[in-house]
Amino acid sequence: MKFHVLGAVSGLALVASGAALAGPEAEVLHWWTSGGEAKSVAVLQEEFAANGGTWTDMPVAGGGGDAAMTALRARVLSGNAPTAVQLKGPAIQEWYEEGVLADISAVAEAEGWADVLPASIAGHMKCEGTWCAAPVNVHRVDWIWANADVLEANGIAMPSSWAEFNAAAEKLQAAGIIPLAHGGQAWQDATVFEAVALGILGADGFHKAFVELDEATLKSDGMKAVFDQMRTLRGFVDPNFPGRDWNLATAMVMNGEAAFQIMGDWAKGEFLAAGKAPGEDFLCASTPGDGFLYNVDSFAMFAVDGAEKEAGQQLLAKLIVGKNFQKVFNLNKGSIPARVDVALDEFDSCAHLSASDMAASSEGGSLLPSYAHGMALRGAQAGAITDVVTAHFNSDMSSEDAVQQLVTAVANSM
Ligand code: GAL
Repeated sequence: MKFHVLGAVSGLALVASGAALAGPEAEVLHWWTSGGEAKSVAVLQEEFAANGGTWTDMPVAGGGGDAAMTALRARVLSGNAPTAVQLKGPAIQEWYEEGVLADISAVAEAEGWADVLPASIAGHMKCEGTWCAAPVNVHRVDWIWANADVLEANGIAMPSSWAEFNAAAEKLQAAGIIPLAHGGQAWQDATVFEAVALGILGADGFHKAFVELDEATLKSDGMKAVFDQMRTLRGFVDPNFPGRDWNLATAMVMNGEAAFQIMGDWAKGEFLAAGKAPGEDFLCASTPGDGFLYNVDSFAMFAVDGAEKEAGQQLLAKLIVGKNFQKVFNLNKGSIPARVDVALDEFDSCAHLSASDMAASSEGGSLLPSYAHGMALRGAQAGAITDVVTAHFNSDMSSEDAVQQLVTAVANSM
């Protein structure tokens, strides 16, 4: 009893001194602002709050995160880094090399991350042997989404080759339907481009081009064929495509204005947030060709001062890889868990397809990092490729000129 009273008294003293009782804090920079994305990040905010954390939100709108990364650089340069940042792929190691990331190895080891994450994902989260990021999910990039009613009404099945896709698109166009919902932003052009490239170049060709930056592949006839198909796709988008956000393109498929969208499975998060059901309202299929382009979202912690902030970083890292969070978050986000031990019973058919294709492609050597979503290359090289892709898509540049420019741009970016 005596101890109890003493505890209460010292508790009061702490309340009076204010800061000493402050719990974990985190200012979190992310770009999850669309309907499905916001619903997903809310899951993390709620878990953080339920564990005593105080979350300061720093959303920077802009699909693909280009604007968020610009905002991040400005904050770090001004000596005021956010506590936690949505960051992925080689950008994690690039920031680590600048000496601004916090080491989260203690949490990773206490939580046994090495035992529950596939080696391919864990590799992206490590910096010189230490853990420097926490993975949230596995998004697949090479997907086609379709409006089920529109396809049925026009007697069209989900295409399994680019030739079939083109034939379906011509038929839809003749019927007055926009075949391809697309947003003309560089990262969306790159997203479509890499899906086409995987289909046409195959997994080995993709690896040579976008992981190894092999010059012969960059200027090959196969790459010309990729640009030819991009030119064909350009003919299937509506005139209002420039600048359109990706989620507005998804909405065009939802409401039947357009038939297809080529986009990663964050698009599924939009369909689900709007109450649409896979297999009934919308259909999913991998884009034509073998392989799997993965895009793993993750959070890195930046070196900051203050016990509350450090506690916030540790709590966030722990929650992010936590089993329940990985399930609930990914049910909303459209992705699948990064952890291997989360049951998929509550996940839909698209998620099951993703998980089985990921396992098969991992076995067969065709599990590949997405270049368009910053998983394969450093920023300068990825940016050089995307500049050419978007310049080609938005002009009448020939495929021959495009491959020539690709070779030059990549060489100059090294
Ligand atoms: C990706 C990101 C996804 C999704 C998408 C659109 O790069 O990995 O989580 O948010 O951008 O914003």
